Amino acid sequence: MKALVLAGGAGTRLRPITYSFAKQLVPVANKPVLFYGLEAIAAAGITEVGIVVGDTADEIKDAVGDGSAFGLDVVYIHQDAPRGLAHAVLIAADFLGDDDFVMYLGDNFIVGGVTLLVEEFRRTRPDAQILLTKVSDPGSFGVAELDAGGRVVRLEEKPDEPKSDLALVGVYMFAAAVHEAVRAIGPSRRGELEITDALQWLIDAGRDVRSTTVTGYWKDTGNVADMLEVNRAVLESTEPYAAGTVDDASEIVGRVRLEPGSVVERSRIVGPVVIGRDARVADSYVGPFTSIDDACSVTDSEIEFSIVLRDASIRGVGRIEKSLIGRGAEVTPAPHVPKAHVLVLGDHSRVQISSARGEV
Ligand code: DAU
Repeated sequence: MKALVLAGGAGTRLRPITYSFAKQLVPVANKPVLFYGLEAIAAAGITEVGIVVGDTADEIKDAVGDGSAFGLDVVYIHQDAPRGLAHAVLIAADFLGDDDFVMYLGDNFIVGGVTLLVEEFRRTRPDAQILLTKVSDPGSFGVAELDAGGRVVRLEEKPDEPKSDLALVGVYMFAAAVHEAVRAIGPSRRGELEITDALQWLIDAGRDVRSTTVTGYWKDTGNVADMLEVNRAVLESTEPYAAGTVDDASEIVGRVRLEPGSVVERSRIVGPVVIGRDARVADSYVGPFTSIDDACSVTDSEIEFSIVLRDASIRGVGRIEKSLIGRGAEVTPAPHVPKAHVLVLGDHSRVQISSARGEV
């Protein structure tokens, strides 16, 4: 069995942060979401992996390399433009041959991995097996309609009027029959070759398409609350690791991961927390469910239940909670009570400013 991992598409903003970024590299507990997918594939016993790349090919290749760090043998398949998930299967035909494969969307996160699903597919050998999960906004996904016996009868891509709240999760298992389907379909109204249409083609052709419903699913939608929540869920299983330097005046409580080169001085860290390479925490408190990425600095501050991306610095600002702080951001106290706020805000920023009316 092989794996086809989709990490193409145009570079998007890491919404609501302004950086143009391969969305598959959005960090969850300081690790790109794509890496969890690759680890899940390796854990399922698959080693031959094709990664579909587009505009952000260089970033993805820099991050994943030849796959050996994951125990995988990775080849890259270039897609000239994001022409759809079924198009990715079409251009990967030579790599895939007639082998069964799991197709994994690189911006998806499946709690608990895919090992059991792959085992079930290997045992039952349908033509395709899809994963479904209940969502509150099915119109943003592929949506499945099941019959009374739980069989998939219809799949629709981002319908205006969803027939159910069961969304397609970005992990699909296929036997070779899918190749005929992706060759047979045409572009959708959004101009893409949709994998939902290929699956519908298989259903209409009487092929065996099965579904499994899962919980514990996340995909980057730019929603900060969701990002904090998946970060929390992953940190729940953090194991302590102490490759950083901690001085005698500091206290480390619970499961804290200190990456090499990190420094903690005169601070209290209460896990689960991860602190990235070469990050420095001084005279501060870092509370549960916080990820501080590589080369960040937190000084004279308190932070809890937050994500701080690489190279950011936080200094002398009291308490920060439930926040997402972007790469290279600087958070500092205002030098004096301002008469007016002077703001340099990136696109789509959200800022909460306490009302200063009447107190100049
Ligand atoms: O995440 C689950 C959803 O993924 C499913 O519910 C939908 O049925 C499915 O169509 C897909 O919808 P999205 O619109 O969210 O897909 P997106 O464009 O975000 O692409 C998913 C991943 O595949 C992402 O890592 C980029 C990559 N990709 C996408 C396209 C369209 C490619 O590598 N090539 C492509 O042509």
